[in-house]
Amino acid sequence: MKTLLLTGATGFLGGAVLEKLLNENQEANYLFLVRAENAQQGLDRIRMNMEKFNVDAGLFSKITIENILLGDLSEPEDFLSDIRINKVTHVINCAAVASFGNNPLIWKVNVEGTLAFAERMAQVEGLKRFLHVGTAMSCAPEPGSLVAESAEFEDTAEHLVEYTRSKSTIEQLMRQRCPQLPLVIARPSIVVGHTRLGCQPSSSIFWVFSMALMLRQFMCSLQDNIDVIPVDYCADAMVMLLNRETLDNDVYHISAGEECSVSFADIDRAMAVALEKAPVGDAYAQVNYDVLVKMRRQLKDIFGPCNERLMLKAMRLYGSFAMLNVRFSNDKILKLGMPKPPRFTDYIGNCVQSTRGLSIQQQMVVDFK
Ligand SMILES: NC(=O)c1ccc[n+]([C@@H]2O[C@H](COP(=O)([O-])OP(=O)(O)OC[C@H]3O[C@@H](n4cnc5c(N)ncnc54)[C@H](OP(=O)(O)O)[C@@H]3O)[C@@H](O)[C@H]2O)c1
Repeated sequence: MKTLLLTGATGFLGGAVLEKLLNENQEANYLFLVRAENAQQGLDRIRMNMEKFNVDAGLFSKITIENILLGDLSEPEDFLSDIRINKVTHVINCAAVASFGNNPLIWKVNVEGTLAFAERMAQVEGLKRFLHVGTAMSCAPEPGSLVAESAEFEDTAEHLVEYTRSKSTIEQLMRQRCPQLPLVIARPSIVVGHTRLGCQPSSSIFWVFSMALMLRQFMCSLQDNIDVIPVDYCADAMVMLLNRETLDNDVYHISAGEECSVSFADIDRAMAVALEKAPVGDAYAQVNYDVLVKMRRQLKDIFGPCNERLMLKAMRLYGSFAMLNVRFSNDKILKLGMPKPPRFTDYIGNCVQSTRGLSIQQQMVVDFK
């Protein structure tokens, strides 16, 4: 039986992976890397996340404190000496500081700590797969392009945020420093909501679309496309990459691709249907960030009580990504037998439903940790 070490099980993607493994009763010995004061608290933190995914308490009851590996990737030496690691056969590494903000731990966790973890895992004799979760955006894509998976590393690539630079660097370092690691990299595109639960597990990124439509102006055009996938589709693909005995490639996008990406106009229309109101349509204007800055004083009238500086920072960061108008090719994962992903607009109603009554400021907290 496999022994799976899953990191990031208290988070969005790692939570969705565990939701799937538990719901499907997949046979495995589990080890969860989790930050907590003690094993019981670690277990409770994962349980609370599983409640957000509506996982049945009975299914979760097979997880005990024995499955908890207390540890922090910013101080990896404390947990890397745990002898249970020597029995691990499979890893899904979802843990990272996944923030566009200036979190001072981004490099320490996403690069230094993750590298130490990978180097330790490379010494585990029975390790069959180390599935590392990267991000499709880490390749600093050309605006307007359909991006293919590439393992090439561009040292001088211009990154919009430190987070994508860290994710790109760690992929390169793991390849260079851990040649014997059975490394496979899954690069999700933009993960928003869950097909059944909407934003109940996490409101990450969904608020950006609501914000732009409430403003009736943003930095992207309504004709621009965006590559969004739901978290449960992403988890299905990761578990497939984990379980497949052999793989032809070592980098896979998990993405909507050309066919299932949607335009902002599609999102406007689908959101309007869910909210039972008219789409913004022609009333929308594509504007520069400077125009948004000049609206500073009106933000409270539009969004209710909010931190104007944080709202503007969010608009600048997410607006720059929205303007990229990129799609990420998903040919490789489809060839492995993954079905096409649902379109964002197919399940946007559940996202709208699950965020009713929450302000933009409340929804965005999760992305500015
Ligand atoms: N969400 C997306 O749209 C998206 C798209 C592409 C790729 N990804 C990638 O997917 C992965 C997961 O992202 P996510 O959206 O699930 O983020 P998330 O919800 O913020 O979850 C991050 C997870 O990492 C853990 N973590 C953070 N710092 C840690 C540390 N120092 N030591 C140990 N664990 C730590 C967190 O634990 P705590 O609960 O203790 O903080 C949490 O479980 C990341 O690698 C991200 O780059 C995400």
